[in-house]
Amino acid sequence: MTVRHFLRDDDLTPAEQAEVLALARELKANPFSRRPLDGPRGVGVIFDKNSTRTRFSFEMGIAQLGGHAVVVDGSKTQLGRDETLQDTGRVLSRFVDAVVWRTFGQERLEQMAEGATVPIVNALSDQFHPCQVLADLQTIAERKGELAGLRLTYLGDGANNMAHSLLLGGVTAGMHVTIAAPLGFAPDPVVVDAARVRAEQTGAMVTLVDDPQAAVAGADVLVTDTWTSMGQEEDGLDRVGPFRPFRIDADLLAKAAPDAMVLHCLPAHRGEEITDEVLDGPQSAAWDEAENRLHAQKALLVWLLERTESRP
Ligand code: CP
Ligand code: NVA
Repeated sequence: MTVRHFLRDDDLTPAEQAEVLALARELKANPFSRRPLDGPRGVGVIFDKNSTRTRFSFEMGIAQLGGHAVVVDGSKTQLGRDETLQDTGRVLSRFVDAVVWRTFGQERLEQMAEGATVPIVNALSDQFHPCQVLADLQTIAERKGELAGLRLTYLGDGANNMAHSLLLGGVTAGMHVTIAAPLGFAPDPVVVDAARVRAEQTGAMVTLVDDPQAAVAGADVLVTDTWTSMGQEEDGLDRVGPFRPFRIDADLLAKAAPDAMVLHCLPAHRGEEITDEVLDGPQSAAWDEAENRLHAQKALLVWLLERTESRP
């Protein structure tokens, strides 16, 4: 039995990530060309946190692949109540061909994957948001062509899921990734080490800074995200003060490369991490980025299902 999971960005090698992105591009051009879930076969889609884009894109994507999405609110299941996550993974594998799960700690996904005999897909955890970054890479490739060698700068909470996934996913694609975050909000050193290992294979560079002006100088891609991620609303930290200089506004954008593009995974907090002028301006690709969740995730599911040999 072989099962491929997608729990974090470096679960795909550079060559594998390129295959998924090529398929995403193919599926965007021809959305109904692949039906691996005909039957319909099922995919479980579980949310322990709120979602708009992930919910719609997975449910529609699974339907377009010929399948049926069983979409559930995790709090209404036995998850984390009195059943181990390994046992839940074992049981769900008898009903569906893959499980897509948005949850809190990354270890919860790892535990479910231990018991599962079908692919487990991380639809956002506290540590990583790898499906989002596949869509981001697809969007960058659409505007810039070759990913390897591009300079991507993320500004904001360097310790959140987007920063971590951009680090791992970005260097996997051969991009030079800079994380610009206020002091005290740097990425997890364990993730930085993993990104540096991967960067050595792809010729990429990882840079951590706390100066937003220097970080954007000459960058090809600027990315930001909310300053307060889901689950952090009550942590009592003052984020607005330290994060203010990291907001992407027209002045900061003007310091990037002249044709720099801007990404935001959304939902955006207009006027906080990004201004209206930038988000709605010609250099923003945030709306294509949102659409590409659909295409990138369909490609990922097709790719994982083709490499998983547990199906009856
Ligand atoms: N970007 C993203 O994951 O959006 P949702 O939280 O709406 O799914
Ligand atoms: N960092 C954000 C991403 C939302 C899609 C969060 O976890 O809330």
